Amino acid sequence: MHFYVLTLFPDLIHTIAGTSITGRAIKNGTITVDTVDIRDFAVRKTGRIDDYPYGGGAGLVIEAEPVFQAVESVRKKTSQKTRVVYLTPQAQVLTQTKVEELAGEEELILLCGHYEGIDDRVLEEVVTDYISIGDYVLTGGELGAAVLIDAVSRFVPGVLNNEESSQFESLQDNLLEYPQYTRPEVWHDKAVPGVLLTGDHAKIEAYRRSESLKRTKERRPDLLEKSYRISALVYGPEETRQRAERLISEMSRYGAVLDYDRKKLQKTRRTVHYLDLYVIPTGLETEISFAERFRNLIVTDTEGRKPLAVLITCGEDKGEKAFLENKGFSVLAQIPESDLADDRVAATALGLRERIDRSV
Ligand code: ADE
Repeated sequence: MHFYVLTLFPDLIHTIAGTSITGRAIKNGTITVDTVDIRDFAVRKTGRIDDYPYGGGAGLVIEAEPVFQAVESVRKKTSQKTRVVYLTPQAQVLTQTKVEELAGEEELILLCGHYEGIDDRVLEEVVTDYISIGDYVLTGGELGAAVLIDAVSRFVPGVLNNEESSQFESLQDNLLEYPQYTRPEVWHDKAVPGVLLTGDHAKIEAYRRSESLKRTKERRPDLLEKSYRISALVYGPEETRQRAERLISEMSRYGAVLDYDRKKLQKTRRTVHYLDLYVIPTGLETEISFAERFRNLIVTDTEGRKPLAVLITCGEDKGEKAFLENKGFSVLAQIPESDLADDRVAATALGLRERIDRSV
């Protein structure tokens, strides 16, 4: 991954990015961070790149031309399509989903403003993405650019070693991480929760999920509203089942798989909550009809919102979508089974997470 940072303070970027894990990644060539000093493109003899705002008001505004020329200078090295991200408080706040989406790029141009910002006309021409790192105002975009480089780099293969990386990140499924403990077993009279010492993985997973939920409820109740309990309701061919499973394991650490070829499940009433998301194959030729198989899914407790369904379309729709909508589901997406092939499932899962984040 190549980052190009346009800034008035290149040293600041090099100091932060050159430290710790990103510093190691720069040294071994896994990422590159090049800076361009906007001042080098001053058009006035005085070397100044800022001026008073039209209409009056406090502060200085960075002129359009030096920024434009700085971007042009980088464009000579990058593809014409490379995205230009402007760090500004006047934007959507960066999320883990957005970070992951940006990590799919090969190179990024990051533009940092200072003072009262940059002449809007050049932003209109060059910027593709506006990103804030939080609802507060910093003195410039450099810290935002450093945050973005750090968060995006973690997704670049080879940046984190085995011990540093985890398949699932806190926040990836809109839940905060459960508490962690290391030795000693007792510290200041506080013992590590006993379940963690049992070696029973299923119990430990259940405990961690409930701790994650508890912590999210206490500290970030807003996130909980985007935290879906994701399950695959599978039946039919083995390959389809596996693909549905792969999809949910990409989307959530705690995804569940329910085998709806089992008569017992078909006969059991299953109440569906508005924070449930079901991945369900459709268009399959099977002995019993879709409506018969899922007759006992009962949507309740919706609090004015609908549970979500993601349909894996394995053949022509035979009324499955309408059936689920009549039950009270909102169909978030219909995705062809081919989008779940091994090399595409991660991108498909990311796309769905973006839609979930937007839909709340
Ligand atoms: N520049 C100034 N404040 C900022 C913020 N909150 N996020 C990103 N860039 C900024």
